[in-house]
Amino acid sequence: MTQKTLELVDRASDRKVSLPVRPGTIGPSVVDIAPLNRELGVFTYDPGFGATAACESRITYIDGDAGVLLYRGYPVEQLAEKSTFTEVAYLLLHGELPSRKQIDEFTSSIRHHTMINESLLRFFNGFHYDAHPMAMVSAVVASMSAFYHDTMDIYNPRQREIFAHRIIAKIPTIAAAAHKHALGQPYVYPRNDLDYCSNLLHMLYAVPCEPYEVDPVAAQALDLLFILHADHEQNASTSTVRLAGSTGTNPYAAIAAGISALWGPAHGGANEAVLTMLEQIGTVDNIPKFLSQAKDKTSHVRLMGFGHRVYKNFDPRAKIIREMCHKVLSRLGRSDNPLFELALRLEEIALQDEYFIERKLYPNVDFYSGIIYSAIGIPRSMFTVMFAIARTVGWVAHWQEMIADPAMRIGRPRQIYTGPTRRDYREIGSRA
Ligand code: CMC
Repeated sequence: MTQKTLELVDRASDRKVSLPVRPGTIGPSVVDIAPLNRELGVFTYDPGFGATAACESRITYIDGDAGVLLYRGYPVEQLAEKSTFTEVAYLLLHGELPSRKQIDEFTSSIRHHTMINESLLRFFNGFHYDAHPMAMVSAVVASMSAFYHDTMDIYNPRQREIFAHRIIAKIPTIAAAAHKHALGQPYVYPRNDLDYCSNLLHMLYAVPCEPYEVDPVAAQALDLLFILHADHEQNASTSTVRLAGSTGTNPYAAIAAGISALWGPAHGGANEAVLTMLEQIGTVDNIPKFLSQAKDKTSHVRLMGFGHRVYKNFDPRAKIIREMCHKVLSRLGRSDNPLFELALRLEEIALQDEYFIERKLYPNVDFYSGIIYSAIGIPRSMFTVMFAIARTVGWVAHWQEMIADPAMRIGRPRQIYTGPTRRDYREIGSRA
């Protein structure tokens, strides 16, 4: 089969370059631009990476126009309906759904790595009671690199696997400790007899003075949300983990970089921002006024939980979560949730508005997730931490894929320089 190429002619110098076009298994092909600089001495310019494929990956596929999301080829809707977060974690890490023996071994390993070093718990004492949990979680995850550094050889597949199991198992423990620190309550140790999400809820809500029983509705809802948040190809935080990891840095430090990138309101911080926005809007009558602010570029207000770089159609995760909101709220006996009613109305009005139609802005994964987190008692400042726990699986899968690739190189973008041209240093007395 002849390989497709894209021919480019530099009219100024009359030089030609032939760029190989590489097909994916599905989705758009990519143009390999490596010869561009070699042959013509120019770089490509793509701020925000709107048209750039930064790597080759076999993990997650998104068709933004059709609203499709596949993990290792499996539609997220099927996984949400039939799978569990732990099984999805195995799938993302290993590429295939596990056999019974494989999932038992994987689950057992995750359950037996849940404790964190006691000294790590003491790190929390350095934080003020009102420190944002994302600040605490990213700092404590970064600190894990100090505990697992000399023994970590990133080129050893078994050590990479141990790292994967450790971070996936321990991040709920760290997240729950951040929450307990904010409350001034004692840290609760993990319970390895519980499944992943039940254990997290137990560590978040149990207190030593009375028994605590995990609500299975809450655990199930959390498990489903975690499946939906587990991976999303080369988003900002995953790209951050890849870029940091490409230097060969300690992988706990790379994950901490990803957590920091996730925190921003344009990314994972949007779930927290959506609830703040809904509270600020307050009632249905205020929706038009709010939307006119969101459409006014000078206001810096955005309709949070709407829009996506890749989806120009419904985010499939948003559809599932909206459906889930109905079920979870009614199972918890809170069907008359006013914020959910307001969100539904806001969605309806925005979807009929020319501004949002023209720009193909639809609800994203964060529009409804905060409503479920609230309903199961998760405080608002912990929403993005919940996202980080789930996305850790995706970050680890991408880091593993990158490190195992013999073609891996340090990530090092270039620029177009528009600063001053060369000039000579002037003594302070002769400067204007
Ligand atoms: N409200 C109002 N206008 C918007 C919004 C919004 N939420 N999102 C995009 N636009 C406008 C934007 O002003 C621009 O208008 P114009 O063409 O007139 O200049 C146009 O739509 C295209 O937007 P963009 O900013 O160029 O798009 P982007 O791909 O760079 O940004 C986004 C994507 C998700 C950052 C953005 O849509 C946004 O800020 N949304 C709100 C925050 C949010 O919900 N983030 C969560 C994303 S999904 C989960 C995750 O990634 O973690």
